[in-house]
Amino acid sequence: MSKQVSSFNKALSDMAKAINSDLTTSEKLHLLVRLTPRALAVRGCSLLLLDAQRKRLVHAPAHGLSERYLRKGFVEAERSLSETMEGKVVKVLDAATDPRIQFQELAQQEHVVSVMGVPLRIKGEVVGSLRVYSRTHRDFTSSEEQFLTTVANLAAVVLESDRLIETGQPPLETKTEAAPHPVPLTSPLKPATFAHPSEEEFARLLDFYQIEWLYEPRSFPLHWEEGRITEMFTPDFYLPGLDLYIEMTTLKPGLTKEKKHKMRRLRELYPEVNVKLLARHDYDRLLAKYGHGPLSGSKTRGVGRVLFSAAQIQRKVRQLAREISKDYDGQHPVLVGVMRGVFCFMADLMRYLTVPADVDFMAISYYEAEKGGAVRVTKGLDINPEGRHLLLVEDIVDTGMTLSFVLGYLKRRNPASLAVCTLLDKKVHRLADVHLTYVGFETPDEFLVGYGLDYQEEYRNLPFVALLEEEKMDAHPTA
Ligand code: IMP
Ligand code: MG
Repeated sequence: MSKQVSSFNKALSDMAKAINSDLTTSEKLHLLVRLTPRALAVRGCSLLLLDAQRKRLVHAPAHGLSERYLRKGFVEAERSLSETMEGKVVKVLDAATDPRIQFQELAQQEHVVSVMGVPLRIKGEVVGSLRVYSRTHRDFTSSEEQFLTTVANLAAVVLESDRLIETGQPPLETKTEAAPHPVPLTSPLKPATFAHPSEEEFARLLDFYQIEWLYEPRSFPLHWEEGRITEMFTPDFYLPGLDLYIEMTTLKPGLTKEKKHKMRRLRELYPEVNVKLLARHDYDRLLAKYGHGPLSGSKTRGVGRVLFSAAQIQRKVRQLAREISKDYDGQHPVLVGVMRGVFCFMADLMRYLTVPADVDFMAISYYEAEKGGAVRVTKGLDINPEGRHLLLVEDIVDTGMTLSFVLGYLKRRNPASLAVCTLLDKKVHRLADVHLTYVGFETPDEFLVGYGLDYQEEYRNLPFVALLEEEKMDAHPTA
């Protein structure tokens, strides 16, 4: 028996054993892509799955490729080894020159020379592709092709059995009434199947703010023993535009602690990976802000502790106005406010400025869960912003999604400069990291009302900023 045949046999027997074990789907797939390059003596291996629209391929476990290569951008099914989508095997001898490779330059930097890709089929339908990458010129043989095809079939078995579990009987712990049910979308595969309705809702919110997202595109090994991965972490979302992974926790506080521990380990092992934890309670607040979700209907006891008194606010606004007047000395900026919360702050700030300034307001549509769709500018600027110094004035920056949308909109109008001044900065909730030039107060993780800020249109008229007192309710519903 040749050396290669015996290494194929060993790999396939290890894979079959793993598939028939109690490892999770993601662990099994990871094992396949880790054992494959060893057997074929290549650098790396990646399993790519088609997204729900069948346009893009998402790297679901990969091995031996750099973070940079995996995040190279969207792999378009039509531009990257497209024949695999038609069910054919593709062998690329020289990735740097072959037009079937979408990211030629990156492949070169990654020292990827030859590539072989085989289709991944489930019951005859192509759902993705399995690829291996070699550092040296490789004319892959037919027995190597056969080996890779067998691994692809094993991966299909893993994916298919996972789907059966997900759409069949719910596992025991999801049987209680309040527990979520899996939400299968159009594609039977992971990238489009949300494990929890709040994830689907969050995806809709991201869609609304036109923030691109991928669902569970990558798994990160956290612990291993003798080369065998014993623990993995798969963040729920990756937002390519923000280069940010998001893990949503819908779990009880005890389990959240475990997740936090995993996050710490992830940050240790992959310091270059930007990941944030979005807790269920935070997420509920996020939705409540738009008048949706479980907290939105909660009875409020009214205004709670005063966080910033009227006098404190006035002092701070005067101080901000001084800084702005100094920085814009000799210029004539345009203050731009986004309706409506900002009107108190804008009125005071304007009156303390010592430089001449124009003022303009714009309005944008708000997220409504039932409607979905995308954020729109419902009222644009009346002043032509081209060539002007714009200062975007905000009442509060929370996730930063509103701000990043508005900044994108204003940038396209070619202003001479664009800066941001916000009275309140709720840093802990930031998802879209936007640079804030002038900040009044940093605020805690609480819902605030007053001085223009409302809760369902109430409390805007308060001269101070206070916490909103919520009726005590279970902040962590069983899930
Ligand atoms: P972001 O897009 O999440 O940063 O949300 C920004 C907008 O949400 C602000 O302009 C406010 O209108 C609203 N908002 C955020 N936090 C609060 C709050 O604590 N009280 C009232 N409104 C808030
Ligand atoms: Mg606002």
